[in-house]
Amino acid sequence: MLRTPVVLITGASGEIGHGLITSLSADRDRHIITLDLKSLDPGLAKLVHEEIIGSILDGNLLERILSEYEVDMVFHLAALLSTRSEFTPMTAHQVNVEGTMNVLEFAQKQGESHGRRVTFLYPSSIAAYGLPDVDTKARVGKVTENEWTKPTTMYGCNKLYCEHMGRYYAKRYKQLAAEPLAGKVDFRSLRFPGLISAVTVPSGGTSDYAPEMIHAAAEGKPYACFVRPDTRIPFMTMPDGVDALLRLAAAPKASLNHTVYNVGAFNPSAEEIRQIVLRAFPGAQITYKVDEKRQGIVDAWPADVDDSAARNDWGYAPRYDLERAFSEYLIPMIRERYRT
Ligand code: SER
Repeated sequence: MLRTPVVLITGASGEIGHGLITSLSADRDRHIITLDLKSLDPGLAKLVHEEIIGSILDGNLLERILSEYEVDMVFHLAALLSTRSEFTPMTAHQVNVEGTMNVLEFAQKQGESHGRRVTFLYPSSIAAYGLPDVDTKARVGKVTENEWTKPTTMYGCNKLYCEHMGRYYAKRYKQLAAEPLAGKVDFRSLRFPGLISAVTVPSGGTSDYAPEMIHAAAEGKPYACFVRPDTRIPFMTMPDGVDALLRLAAAPKASLNHTVYNVGAFNPSAEEIRQIVLRAFPGAQITYKVDEKRQGIVDAWPADVDDSAARNDWGYAPRYDLERAFSEYLIPMIRERYRT
């Protein structure tokens, strides 16, 4: 039992969790507990105080965590991504919405119990947007947080709704009760673009064509890209994604004018990514085999995001533009990963 404040990471064994645990654990005074259905890589497991194997849908398990720990920060990363969610929409809703409600309620109870605000970090997504057609997508270019929020996927609907739920917990929770109860959960959300990691590969997303292309080339495997060459959405590297989460978590509350922030770093077309990958791995075999249905999902996502609110309010500043992402992060680290 640890009655000192701890950080809870749900979905910790996923791609974001991988980078986040490594960064967070650099602060030795910060104890981390994790909750995931899957176990952590052994290298990561030794960086956390307790690794709990289980589900965010298990109320009894959340009660146990509540009774044992004082959680004052939550990174709620557990989710089914966009492609997977289209095959199992009911499960997606359970995990992405009911699971998030459980974790929000858990954070509320934590705040009520120890009396401090619980900072709640929630990765939302460009999937929260829905552009009606490719002409509109090309015409509007960068979108701001309040435009075009008509998601076309189960995952996007889930993310957008949970942004609203988070705002509700932070500002209006039980607003008719005799005693004020809102404000225990300090909800902060980022709408991530596609994330590209050199050390892990995604599963079940629709922006996966970019990381899949890069990793396949490094491994010497042929790859057929499932979207058209001209497809364009924003991306960022995983280290910048993790850094953005940590910066938003650390930002003074008074500086935050919004609960949800766009973040982006570069927005190459699929063909531009292919060309960079071919320069780095000249023998790579990258072709196109367009999956019209997955293409439809990506076509509804914006070509770019306006992240000026994040830059102004809490100093968002990605380290890697497209060139540096490849030359200084992706290519050297991926070569290392697949070195035989
Ligand atoms: N990368 C995610 C996906 O493709 C979008 O948030 O589902």
